[in-house]
Amino acid sequence: MTECEPFIPTRTNQTIAVYPGTFDPITMGHLDIVQRGLSLFNKVVVAIARNSSKQPLFSIDERIRMIRDCFPDDDRVEVEAVDGLLVDYAYTKGAKAIIRGLRAVSDFDYEFQLALMNRRIEREIETVFLMTGFRWIFISSSIIKDVARHGGDVNGLVPDHVCEKLRERFML
Ligand code: COA
Repeated sequence: MTECEPFIPTRTNQTIAVYPGTFDPITMGHLDIVQRGLSLFNKVVVAIARNSSKQPLFSIDERIRMIRDCFPDDDRVEVEAVDGLLVDYAYTKGAKAIIRGLRAVSDFDYEFQLALMNRRIEREIETVFLMTGFRWIFISSSIIKDVARHGGDVNGLVPDHVCEKLRERFML
């Protein structure tokens, strides 16, 4: 393709984005980002990555299952666990971008640091930030777990099957 030719997506140049996170558990805010990612990319790979400073409540397999159950018939969404560096994983998947959701200004410093470090390691992969839907800017996986742990109602903030899993886990 010369510099002036328009970019016409075909089956062979599918645009893939990786959406990484801990997803412990997946929330409606995360789902919103996946849905919006699908309007920009042909495929979104939800990558359950390790954040060394977090002790997850759900195992990797449980988190994979919960996310897959959100997209039962959509082959544009793939769900996998990632070991090692995120950018290495994204590169091997043929991804053009890493998607991250921003909820508030307070997210920015940390996200900026991650994005710049990822770009330093692998310049071909861009980080794309999507604003989290207004309805979900106040939620995080931790706050959902905290409310559920104390018997509070998280209906509507996580998918129904995730709500059920939280009830089971906290024996409510
Ligand atoms: N809706 C609701 N909540 C959202 C959200 C949205 N749209 N976007 C972010 N959040 C919340 C998450 O629920 C999470 O909440 P929690 O802290 O209560 O769990 C928090 O915002 C941010 O977490 P998350 O998006 O899951 O990222 P993280 O900070 O846990 O993980 C990784 C960052 C996993 C992407 C990063 O550690 C990584 O890339 N690890 C792989 C190893 C690597 O390459 N390291 C070098 C990185 S430079």
